[in-house]
Amino acid sequence: MKTVAILISGQGSNMASLVRACRDEHWPARIAAVIANRAEAAGLEVARGLGVPVEVVAHTAHAGRESFDAALTERLDALGVDLVVLAGFMRILTEGFVSRFAGRLVNIHPSLLPAFPGLDTHARALAAGVRMHGATVHLVTPALDHGPILAQAAVPVLDGDDASTLAARVLAVEHRILPKAVRWLVEDRVRVSEGRAEVVGVPADERLLWEGGR
Ligand code: GRF
Repeated sequence: MKTVAILISGQGSNMASLVRACRDEHWPARIAAVIANRAEAAGLEVARGLGVPVEVVAHTAHAGRESFDAALTERLDALGVDLVVLAGFMRILTEGFVSRFAGRLVNIHPSLLPAFPGLDTHARALAAGVRMHGATVHLVTPALDHGPILAQAAVPVLDGDDASTLAARVLAVEHRILPKAVRWLVEDRVRVSEGRAEVVGVPADERLLWEGGR
């Protein structure tokens, strides 16, 4: 049985998809807490509604990243967490934090990495004129939005898209690949070698979700 914490900053729709999958598919895992770095995060209410304990570790209460990450680590240790999922968690974590949870820290990013790391991915994808966009679930390493890729989902960019229509199309597939990839971690299927992840017993095409196009 793995103990999982989910970190959020906002609406928490990825968190909700994960909590539901864990329950409905009877994973050998327990969601110990949903932790937000903002007391106003709407996802906290969603988590409560799903019966998951919630906590706030407010980044504003800390002078710097080191002290915030230390507070976060303290809570995760107290909960005895095996796996930490960043589900729309909008804080950059220190190298110390990332190495402490190496191999047990996973993020979902709204682009087909290594394209468009960082913020405003949908607007940047539109500005670049890409025809395909998407999302990536990856293990977290100290370099922002890099790290071994577990799963990706691709969606087409359509005529008339703006950042919000594109974001909604991407978010829908995020909800499908995040639970899948976290389950592989829960089941200890992930091996990393030379910066690449292998998922034991999972065919390569299961690690890609492709919606649309022709
Ligand atoms: C998602 O697109 C996530 O990838 C990004 O922020 C959005 C958060 O959505 N980092 P939610 O809070 O999971 O609903």
